Parts: sequence; structure tokens; C-alpha cells
Amino acid sequence: MEKEKGKKILFPQIKGILHGGDYNPEQWLDRPDILEEDIRLMKKAGMNSASLGIFSWSAYEPREGEYHFQWLTDCIDRLYENGIYTVLATPSGAKPAWLDENYLEALRVDSYGVRYHHGARHNHCMSSPVYRDKVRNIVTRLHEAVGEHPGVILWHISNEFGGECYCPLCVKRFQDYLAEKFDGDIDKLNHAWWTPFWSHQYNGFDQIEPPYQNGEFSIMGLKLEWRRFTTWSMTDYMKFEINLLKELTPDRPVTTNFMQLYEGLDYREMAKHLDVISWDSYPCLHNDYESFASTMAHNAFHHAVMRGMKRDKPFMLMESAPGLVNWHQYNKLKRPGVHRLFSLQALACGSDTVQYFQWRKSRGSYEQYHGAVVDHLGTGDTRIFREVAGLGEELKRLESVAGSLVQAQTAMIVDWDVMWALGDMRGLCDETKRYADTCAAIYETMLRLGVDVDVISQMDDFTGYRVLVAPMLYLLKPGVAQRLRAFVEKGGELLATYLTGYVDENTLCYLGGFPGDGLSSLFGVVSEEIDTLYPTDQNGVCFAEGVLQESDSLREEQVRDYAERLRVSDADILGRYTSDFYAGEPAVTERVQGEGHACYVGCRLSMTGMRALFARMFKRAGIHMRQLPEGVECHVRAGEDRQYEFYLNMTDRETALSDVQGENLLTGEMLQGTLNLEPYGAAVIVSKL
Ligand code: GAL
Repeated sequence: MEKEKGKKILFPQIKGILHGGDYNPEQWLDRPDILEEDIRLMKKAGMNSASLGIFSWSAYEPREGEYHFQWLTDCIDRLYENGIYTVLATPSGAKPAWLDENYLEALRVDSYGVRYHHGARHNHCMSSPVYRDKVRNIVTRLHEAVGEHPGVILWHISNEFGGECYCPLCVKRFQDYLAEKFDGDIDKLNHAWWTPFWSHQYNGFDQIEPPYQNGEFSIMGLKLEWRRFTTWSMTDYMKFEINLLKELTPDRPVTTNFMQLYEGLDYREMAKHLDVISWDSYPCLHNDYESFASTMAHNAFHHAVMRGMKRDKPFMLMESAPGLVNWHQYNKLKRPGVHRLFSLQALACGSDTVQYFQWRKSRGSYEQYHGAVVDHLGTGDTRIFREVAGLGEELKRLESVAGSLVQAQTAMIVDWDVMWALGDMRGLCDETKRYADTCAAIYETMLRLGVDVDVISQMDDFTGYRVLVAPMLYLLKPGVAQRLRAFVEKGGELLATYLTGYVDENTLCYLGGFPGDGLSSLFGVVSEEIDTLYPTDQNGVCFAEGVLQESDSLREEQVRDYAERLRVSDADILGRYTSDFYAGEPAVTERVQGEGHACYVGCRLSMTGMRALFARMFKRAGIHMRQLPEGVECHVRAGEDRQYEFYLNMTDRETALSDVQGENLLTGEMLQGTLNLEPYGAAVIVSKL
């Protein structure tokens, strides 16, 4: 199949999908036989890439100023000769012992103010000038050794940035950051943080401490700003590495690997400085608390989070476990066929790579029992290896998918600021707030209607979407309420829920009624009170005739956890509470504004109820819904003149779909009607647009 024009190819050197993973030859330098065997096995597994150097600092520079790069040069050469490209990491994710021994300030300080000892990884201070000097030096040397090698296609910065530092350098930077943010005016900060409460007014920026565990925990604005600062500081550190790399190799793209909705860092701020988004996906598969299909749908949600950060190009699945991991509470094997299905899901959601942690199991230390393509047995004759090699063959058939994009017309707003502010606010019930889980469940509900959904920020552009869903949009940044109104006026369908618009960007409550900043007039409601339900509490919503058109049995739906009492000023009441002292009061409303509709769901409604509301919105917005058998996911990627429909059977039962037309790229079969899917089976159907 010829290449389509105008597609967003990430790596022109790679034909089609990149297939690779973390590779640690530095652990085997005394075993040249193993390194030679690795090349043979990588080719057998259909790998065209390997990620090198992620934790190699002490192999490069075992003593300060003593450098060993020959092993790396040899390795990149050998890989390249065999058609395997290198993703090259900067080694800053873990420090050699000599560095911590000689430069104490490079070690982090924890939230009690205690400095860490040498050990583990990800423990450097983001502000330390010494650490930056040492990193600058080793990265420059790395570049001198292999930086211009034609086999190197991407810089992988550090590894999974995370954590925070409370050292004196970071505290000082925090104070400077605040002074800049509040224009050097401490009264502005005192007002924004409502510090007269408990007599917490500050006289100057130099009095402000971070929220130590044994210190200030009661100012919501401080806690939020500390999290923003940590993102700012980590991004500043990351930019230092990026700037250095861009000076050395201006044309080579850079990435760093993210971890789903990791709470510690607002990835969207970091994403602005990266050329391509990549992430590490390790869901707890085959667990005992939800269906496999749900776990996978939540994984698709996280793919959508990544896709949403750069919607104009594919992203990368930088790490996944070919077998099991070693750090879930229970480490269960991936069932036969699941590796393929899992990898195809990444592609379906917009990734152009399938990569693993790790190529070969380490013999000792912390991750010696973590799954790998090649395990301690050391051969290609294992179930895992065969599954990886089988996938490698299939990925070649999916070459033309590379560069095509998921083009969703529905978006869900999910924000770190909201996650942080909701998590910190005192009230409700900490166990049931569950912001990220709630968003994932809502995403799954829309997915079950056969609709692809992007996950975006409240600051992103809403144009191009027809439906916007904003679960628990507790914190509003300036201008967002106005943009939501404009979206609806121009014909958009908007759905918001309980806990919308309670606070501004500094966590000050809106006065005059929630949802604030003018949203109560958009929805035509004011939320007067919110009730927190115990797990044993029962309530429900009874919907008016004809609202939930899917079936009559959907007229009454369950409510859990949260229920707001709404005062309706100007909206249609779609459903009313069935129990408690607010029985009969409005629970779900809708209002016409301009060409569109603004729907407010004042309670945590059952997902069957939400599904019916979404179906109603999609229908009105003209969004095509696909009828899917239970547990089957469908995602669509489009190139310039072809589209690729991915059907993924997330169950261990056979199933079938009707009305499928086109060529199944995985089998070469032409379909004109029924598509049969085996247990954990998948199909990729290509058709002309
Ligand atoms: C990732 C990390 C890898 C490896 C892996 C194990 O978070 O980047 O280096 O530790 O987890 O699952």
C-alpha cells in the first residue's frame, strides 16, 4: 500500500510503526555473547528500535572525569547495521554514587525538611546549579561520543520526572516565584490565599514556607501554588536539558516519558516544550475488582490524555510490560493474546509506537523479576517472546497506519489544577471524591457508545468539537466560563456536573452562587447545597417522560456519593430526586443558549443514566454512534484519504459485529458484513474516505 500524503510521520527513518523498548547493555558488558544474541533476537522479534542509556551514568563516568563511551558506540553501531534505531536517553534519572558523595546539594530534601541519602533514582534537586553542571557535562560528552550517529532518532530526556524537593534552594525559588506571580505585592497574595483566616497573614514573601508535612497545611492557595511551582521547577529543569540538546542537535526531536495522570506534575505545562508526547502504560490487568474491559477502557482514557496534549501528531507508547510487572500488589501474567490486544489498543488510540520495559530481564537488583521480552531463560523459545515476535510481524502489516490521527468530535475536560484543588479542599469525603477515576468512568461510558473522545484542558481551544463534557470542573481559570458560553452559543452541546465552578484559580469561592463566574446563568441553575452520601445511602433520579430515549426502563437511575440541591431559575428540568428531604427537587437540567444546549447533572448519576444523556447529546450533535457488542472497543484513525477502524475484543469470549466494510489489514481479508472476533481478538479495517 503506497504512503498517503500529508500524514504526520514521527520518524522518517522508521518504516511504519516503531517497535522497541528499554535496553540495558551496560548490565552485560562482561558477556559479549549475550549482546550478540540480543541483536539476533531483536531482529527475530521484529524490533526496529531500542532505547539506550536511560540509567547509564555510572557506566559512562564511573569516577568523576573518567569517561567510557566505547561500549555505547559499539552497541549503537551494531544495532544500526542491523536496522535497529536508537532512542537515546540523557542519564539524569539516576546519579552515580560519587556525585552524591561530593555534591550533597544535588540530593533532594523531603517534605519534613530532611535530606535524602544516596540511593534509588529520581532524587535530584531541580534547582541545584551543581547538578545542572554535572548533567551539562555528561550530556555534552555523550553527544561528542554518539550524538551525531545516524542511528539515533530521538532524545529521551531523563526518565519519568516526578517528586518534589524542599531544600533551601527550592524554598528560595518558591518565594521568588510567588513574588513574581503576585507582582511583589504581599497583600495581593494575602487576599488570594485568604490568610486572615487563623491569623496566617504574611508580611513578606521571605516568610512563606512550602507546605511541609509538619508545617503549614491549612492554606489551600499555598498548597495549590506549591504544586504549580513544582511543575514550574521541574519544567525549568527539563527545559535546561532541552535547550542543551537543541544547541547540540537542533533537528533531533525530544521527548520525556509521562505516567498517565501522575498527580505530582501538570504534564500539559511540560508538553509545551516537547516535540513528541510519550508515556508508560502499566495498568493492573486481570484484577479482581473490575472487568478486564473496564481496565482497558481506563487505559484508553489515559491514551486520550496523551493524545490531547499534541493533537496534530501521533504519540508514543514508550514503555509497557511484555509480560508482568513486579510492583502491582498482585503481579498477574498477561493472558495469551492480551499482549497483542494491548499493543493494538495503543495504536488504535493514536500511538505510532509499541515499546517495552524491558528488552532483557536484569539478573539482579530491584527489577530482576519484572517481565521482559527475553527472560532469564535467555532464548526466543518462550510464550512472551513468541507473542512479541508475532506482534512484530503484524506491525509490519500496519505500516500505513503510521501518521494517521484520531479525529474526535467530543472532548472531556480534565485538569491537574482541578485534581489538586479538589483533592486538597476540606469537605465532601476524601474516599469518594475520586476525580480521575470518575473522569475515566465517564470516558468509558462514551466509549461504549462507539464514540472517540479527546481529553483536553479547560485552557485548550474548544473549536472543532461538537460535544464538551466537563466532570467536576471545580476550579475555573479566567475566561473559561465565557469560552464555555461561546461554545454553547455556537451550537455546542455542553454537559457539566455537580461540583462545577466552586472556586477561582486561587481556590477562593465564587460569591453569588455556584457554578460561579457567570456559569449559573448559562445553566440556569444555582447549586445551593451539596449532600455527601454514605455508601449505604440510597437516592435516585426519576427522569421525565421521553428524556432518556434509549428505553423506558431507564426512567429511574441511581445516585451515589454526591447530590446537589439545585435552584432552577431558567432551565428545563430533566430529572428529579426520588428520596430524602429533597425528593422531587431538580437533579438534572438543560437549558438552550443560542444554538446549543447546556446540561447540568447535579449528582453522581449511574453510568447507565449518563450513557442515556450522552446518547441524547450525540444524536443532537450529529455524532455517529456505533453499536458495539459488550466489551468491544472501536477507535478510528484517519489519514488523508483512508480511515482505519480498530475493533478490539476486550473479553475472553468470541463475538461478532455486523456491517463492517473494508480490508482487515491484519489478515488481508475483505469484509462486507460480519466481522468475527476471537477471544481477545482484534481487527484493523481500512477503507477509503
Ligand atoms: C517505569 C520506569 C522503568 C521501569 C518500569 C517498571 O516506570 O520508567 O524504568 O522501572 O517502570 O515497570
